[in-house]
Amino acid sequence: MTFTTHLSAPAVVRAGALKNSIHVEPLTCTIGAELSNVDLGVASEDEALLAEIRALLLRHRVLFFRDQDITRTQHVAFARRFGELEDHPVAGSDPDHPGLVRIYKSANSPNDRYENAWHTDATWREKPPFGCVLRCVECPPVGGDTMWANMVEAHARLPEDIKARIAGLRARHSIEASFGAAMPIEKRLALHAQYPDAEHPVVRTHPETGEKVLFVNAFTTHFTNFHTPENVRFGQDANPGAAQLLGYLISQAYVPEFQVRWRWRKNSMAFWDNRSTQHYAVMDYPPCDRKMERAGIVGDATY
Ligand code: SIN
Repeated sequence: MTFTTHLSAPAVVRAGALKNSIHVEPLTCTIGAELSNVDLGVASEDEALLAEIRALLLRHRVLFFRDQDITRTQHVAFARRFGELEDHPVAGSDPDHPGLVRIYKSANSPNDRYENAWHTDATWREKPPFGCVLRCVECPPVGGDTMWANMVEAHARLPEDIKARIAGLRARHSIEASFGAAMPIEKRLALHAQYPDAEHPVVRTHPETGEKVLFVNAFTTHFTNFHTPENVRFGQDANPGAAQLLGYLISQAYVPEFQVRWRWRKNSMAFWDNRSTQHYAVMDYPPCDRKMERAGIVGDATY
């Protein structure tokens, strides 16, 4: 079992074309680093800088930036350097910038509820996103933080018998019971028909680093290959036994030792590796405007 720490002193990574050096400040021992002296508005044109950001993303899993007073075009241009962008079937996108999803909560609709569960984005897709670049357009004076969890660490620190037990398991992920749940039944069924459930390994191999990732979250409904003679003696081993095992695995994202929490300010940004993390937008603020814009980058099939 390994416990990866990133306790190294803040590092100057390079003297770059931006006349500054990237300054990297790890925010916890496990996940997240704040980068400063970086202008994401021009980063899309700087190959060396993009390569460094990619390497830092793989290492820290979530990168944070302050004071990025950039345009939507620049936001999209930066994210596009990591892959195609995708819209979200329920949250709308900026009409002038396809792929830039608007996550807007308004003081005028205080009953809005969204993203209030630990999740990896869009695992109901066969190819869940590579990552997302999120910018804060407006936020409450206090509250409305976002948290991320390192799901490589979550897997690494599982008891060895659990690791052995889940090694070959696969699970179903569905949009229906989350984004579809509040819809009238016809609309929900249409959404489900358009986005059929996806199946993923419970332990995913990260496509770039080869790390093992615990890959179940709030979109995961059930194991698809648990009901075998090795696992099931009597019915209760499958139900509720498998559901309890799944609940235990999903709950690993709630462990504080695997987490980082980020306080937003206007023009703060976060870039996360969706393949190795989960996140949770904390709904702890009274009705007020919170406006976030997210560029979601298309990912790979899982294996
Ligand atoms: C998301 O879940 O992608 C959005 C997170 C946030 O609004 O902070």
